[in-house]
Amino acid sequence: MNILALETSCDETSASVILNGAKVKSLVISSQIKIHAKYFGVVPEVASRAHLENINPVIVETLKKSEISFSDFSKKIDAIAVTAGPGLAGALLVGIIAAKTMASIYKKPLIPVNHLEGHLYSAFIGNKSIKPPFLSLIISGGHTEIMIVEDFGKYKILGGTRDDAVGEAFDKAAKMLGLEYPGGPIIDKRAEKGNPATVNFTRPYLKGSWDFSFSGIKTALLNYLKNNSIKTEQHLNDICASFRQAIAETLCFKAFEGAKKFNLKQIVLGGGVSANSLIRSMFMQEGKKNKIKIFIPSFIYCTDNAAIIGYAAYLKQKKCGLNYNNIQLKPNPSLSLVNW
Ligand SMILES: Nc1ncnc2c1ncn2[C@@H]1O[C@H](COP(=O)(O)OP(=O)(O)OP(=O)(O)O)[C@@H](O)[C@H]1O
Ligand SMILES: [Mg+2]
Repeated sequence: MNILALETSCDETSASVILNGAKVKSLVISSQIKIHAKYFGVVPEVASRAHLENINPVIVETLKKSEISFSDFSKKIDAIAVTAGPGLAGALLVGIIAAKTMASIYKKPLIPVNHLEGHLYSAFIGNKSIKPPFLSLIISGGHTEIMIVEDFGKYKILGGTRDDAVGEAFDKAAKMLGLEYPGGPIIDKRAEKGNPATVNFTRPYLKGSWDFSFSGIKTALLNYLKNNSIKTEQHLNDICASFRQAIAETLCFKAFEGAKKFNLKQIVLGGGVSANSLIRSMFMQEGKKNKIKIFIPSFIYCTDNAAIIGYAAYLKQKKCGLNYNNIQLKPNPSLSLVNW
């Protein structure tokens, strides 16, 4: 089963060819970060227009890298996968129209994928030793979800964020600190050179609930900055380290509480924030201590890309088969996780 996958849910236009669910033959990502950086966030209309310009060259390049021409496409590709939601309506629409067009020209089945399932299974790429059940923690720019994955496509959601997603909290904190967008990687880099004990931000553990809340820690940072001006580069690094520490400890606390409570021996991370170096090392360390296996996606598969969509599509068709009648597929900006 060879899949051409497309992803356009937010600000990355991406296409990938996945062979037999095992090998990422090619992956092309065209990021719009530079376009949106001046607005400190993604501008939906600007994103849709950029996807429109990028989608064809990105598909052509990924096929070229996989040595597939349009004349042998039918022979070499078995299905087309596309992100159906959640995401920005106009952005999703570009990927869906491209996927539908190719599916109808080449008479291939179309596999709609929930973007969150792309993140959820991203650590599986190149790692065959993960087997459900496991605890999943999706930490991205728009989501913070903790759930039990009982089987592929069988989810029991425990909790999510009550306000900001964790990636959003990093991005907003960076803006307050006068840093660039996206803030997560910049805070992470600066935090490596800082002292995490400088500011004691409260850890929003919300004991007794599986939910998260990051707006309090954001306000705590704002209040700190009202009372303390940033004096030096080192001081800025120290604040970044303190902020990152509080977030990493909160995520780690909740995930391990969940794994222990539900007797799960594996925790699987996914989403852009799982690229965070402290989160990665803290989870690995705690995993060793608690005899819980930790699986984290390779850096390239943390943020949005089409390979994770292709992989989720591969798992889905393996369990549910293929549907050739998805021509009615429409973008669903608020698509929630459903069992299959
Ligand atoms: N090293 C890092 N440390 C912390 N956060 C990071 C790091 N690298 C990326 N991020 C954050 O990851 C987010 C982007 O991740 P991703 O592409 O998965 O999110 P999204 O697609 O915008 O949201 P969603 O998947 O929820 O729709 C941004 O908020 C960014 O700041
Ligand atoms: Mg994403």
